Parts: sequence; structure tokens; C-alpha cells
Amino acid sequence: MGVQITPSILNADFANLGAEVARISGADMVHVDVMDNHFVPNLTFGPTMVEALARSTDLPLDAHLMIADADRHAPTYVEAGCASVTFHVEAAAAPVRLAREIRAAGGRASMALKPATPIEPYADMLGELDMLLLMTVEPGFGGQKFLDLVLPKIRRTRALLDALGVETWLQVDGGVSLETIERCAEAGADVFVAGSAVYSADDPDAMVTALRDAAAAARPPTTPQHG
Ligand code: DX5
Ligand code: ZN
Repeated sequence: MGVQITPSILNADFANLGAEVARISGADMVHVDVMDNHFVPNLTFGPTMVEALARSTDLPLDAHLMIADADRHAPTYVEAGCASVTFHVEAAAAPVRLAREIRAAGGRASMALKPATPIEPYADMLGELDMLLLMTVEPGFGGQKFLDLVLPKIRRTRALLDALGVETWLQVDGGVSLETIERCAEAGADVFVAGSAVYSADDPDAMVTALRDAAAAARPPTTPQHG
């Protein structure tokens, strides 16, 4: 799988979301940040809004659930029409069971880690995931500064995925822009969320293309697959 750009609509005009999503028609997925004012100190929208958005676009939706009690709510977002559903491991009581439930409901299962959460305890469950999200800011708000301290974890995660020989995508989210995307790609990420970088651009779709080109140029050569 090549580089994918998944713009976050967090910084888009919430009163015109259908039109805002039409401005990123070249994106690979639309990243929807669900926040509950509990897991993070911010509140966005829930499954009803996500369902309406799914009806308004042909692009697949990539839900990022920043919500408490992920075990209870995550499968609802597959039913709401999301192709991919990401829960936070810090909010999940049984992440393996939850990943399997998301897959059983027909979605791609994805798990997110906050910047200070280590990957190593989860190494043995990476094969249960279709995508792993490494946050490069503390979750909760768009427009924050990219945290370079996450780069070594991106490298270690890439090495774990390559050693396992699994197809799990590696997504980064937070502060990703033309200035920072190359560092993430070089470290081994292949799916990139960008919120303010895309929606503050005069031409969001042109920014999606520019980000994809920059990441593709910075990616390390593909390592030989095992097995
Ligand atoms: C932060 C969200 C991100 C955010 C990205 O909690 O998960 O998706 O919207 O926005 P930027 O790219 O502006 O950091
Ligand atoms: Zn996000």
C-alpha cells in the first residue's frame, strides 16, 4: 500500500461539512475526530452526525474515537458507515476483543496510542489490527505543534510490523504538515492525518496532493517481506 492522506475535518466549517468534504475529493479517507469531553477536554459529534456525513460523500470515513468506554461505542461507528474505526488503547478495557468486534461488524480495526503510551506492550496484538495510529500531539485539539519525541516510536513500530510481516497500516495524527510529513514518512508511517494544514490552505485538494508527494518521496525503500 502506498502513501495515504486522510484529512481531518476538525478544522473545517462544521456548519457546511458536506461542502467542506467536497473540497478534498483527492483524499484517501476522511478523518473524523469524535470527542466526548471526557477522554479529551473537547466535544465534537457522535454517530448521528457521522452517519449523515457518510451519506454525503463517496470517500471512506476514518473515525478516530477520542471517547471513554470505547468497548461499548466503537462498533456503532461501523454501523454508522465508517470504513475504519480507531479506538484509543487507553480507553479500551479489552482491545483484542474490541478489534475483533469491529472487524466482525465489517470495519477496518484500528488502535491509537497517545504520545507517551509505549508500543511494546501491544507488539503481540498488531496482527489483530488493520491500522495503528500513533498520535504526534496530545489528542483533543487541532493546530498543535508536532511532537518530534514520537519519531523513535514510529521507527520501532515500523520495525515490529515489518518483522511480523503484517499489512497493518501505520498512521500519524497531529501537527502533520509539509514541514513535518517527511520526518514521519522517513520513520515509517504510511497514512497521514492533516487537519489545519489542509483546511488552512487556499486549495485543500492541492495540499492533499502536495502532502502525498512529499511523503512518497521521503519513504524508505521497501524492506523485504518475511515468510
Ligand atoms: C487531534 C485530532 C487530530 C487533529 C489534527 O486530537 O485527533 O486529528 O484534528 O489536526 P492538525 O493536523 O491541525 O494537528
Ligand atoms: Zn484525529
